[in-house]
Amino acid sequence: MTLLVTGGAGFIGANFVLDWLASSDEPVINLDKLTYAGNPETLASLQGDARHRLVQGDIGDSALVSRLLAEHRPRAVLNFAAESHVDRSIHGPGEFIETNVVGTFRLLESVRGHWSALPEAEQAAFRFLHVSTDEVYGSLAKEDPAFTEHHRYEPNSPYSASKAASDHLVRAWHHTYGLPVLTTNCSNNYGPYHFPEKLIPLMIVNALAGKPLPVYGDGMQIRDWLYVKDHCSAIRRVLQAGRVGETYNVGGWNEKPNIEIVQTICRLLDEMRPKAQGSYASQITHVTDRPGHDRRYAIDARKLEAELGWTPAETFETGIRKTVTWYLDNPEWVQHVQSGAYRDWVNKHYNAS
Ligand code: NAD
Ligand code: DAU
Repeated sequence: MTLLVTGGAGFIGANFVLDWLASSDEPVINLDKLTYAGNPETLASLQGDARHRLVQGDIGDSALVSRLLAEHRPRAVLNFAAESHVDRSIHGPGEFIETNVVGTFRLLESVRGHWSALPEAEQAAFRFLHVSTDEVYGSLAKEDPAFTEHHRYEPNSPYSASKAASDHLVRAWHHTYGLPVLTTNCSNNYGPYHFPEKLIPLMIVNALAGKPLPVYGDGMQIRDWLYVKDHCSAIRRVLQAGRVGETYNVGGWNEKPNIEIVQTICRLLDEMRPKAQGSYASQITHVTDRPGHDRRYAIDARKLEAELGWTPAETFETGIRKTVTWYLDNPEWVQHVQSGAYRDWVNKHYNAS
């Protein structure tokens, strides 16, 4: 039994692989293009571990994916690979279309080719799990109910539009070809190994460096936060028991305005790493808003909770404390990301093929 994980050197994929191999001996083939967001240093603890193989490559490389599928005969493919940063999608949407739309299409076709030739029992047991986002549902007004799985798709950014397209492809490959797919739509994640271009790690890293903490617009946009390891446990549960063809919303009922997140980080840093004078909150600055900025996301996770019995282990209070502690304890990881040294890691330290 083997899993093929794509994008497993990124933030959530790497957390998933680390958690998976901490509790299971089922090997993982990790296919990752190692874009700027892919960081094999995150997987350093798996160096020399025969249960993990990192393969540098593109989900859109059909020959490579077909070879990996034939060679390793995974019982499931978990697709984490994507361009994931909204701001980057606004500046340059091309890569988002290439990977999230065309890449997912090519991956689905490679997987379909492999799956359709499997013996019946293996075909029935096979799963393609697509990791997606709540952003496909668009933006909520303050009084709107949270997103259920039946909410209309109304993506607003090039990123969310590309993820919405990929979700539709996955759905169609099930409906048309019978590919046994599962889709998860999760809210904002945070936790260890988060690339410091996203709100929470950026604020921690900037605060410690004495830099401004750039809050977009009025800072009253609301996101629904989930500790990354809870997202990973939800994915494990959906893989194990999710109904084929279904989508599952994943979230921890933790809606917070951005400004409150930033203030909480400042308060924790004031406690754990006090400045010589004053509070980190004095570094907060309001900057020009993100174009087309979605006002509010909120996930209704009742289907996942009721059907599969999943609940998150962390509250926002415990998760954010763990996260700030992790960044304080791992300055080298941050430094290597900032200097770009993590990009040499694969050559220097890791046996990628
Ligand atoms: P990330 O940007 O940290 O990591 C993405 C990974 O995919 C990187 O390792 C990158 O090298 C790899 N990759 C990119 N293009 C590839 C390609 N063409 N072929 C193979 N690998 C490629 O992203 P993340 O935050 O870990 O998100 C993972 C998945 O979860 C994405 O699909 C994202 O849409 C989804 N998601 C993210 C969040 C969040 O809050 N971060 C929330 C919900 C869903
Ligand atoms: O909702 C799930 C999504 O969450 C995922 O699908 C995406 O991959 C992930 O990047 C994330 O998207 P967001 O745009 O919500 O995350 P980001 O961390 O970029 O921003 C969170 C909020 O904070 C958002 O309202 C914009 C704001 N922000 C962000 C940055 C980087 C700031 O105010 N200042 C900043 O510097």
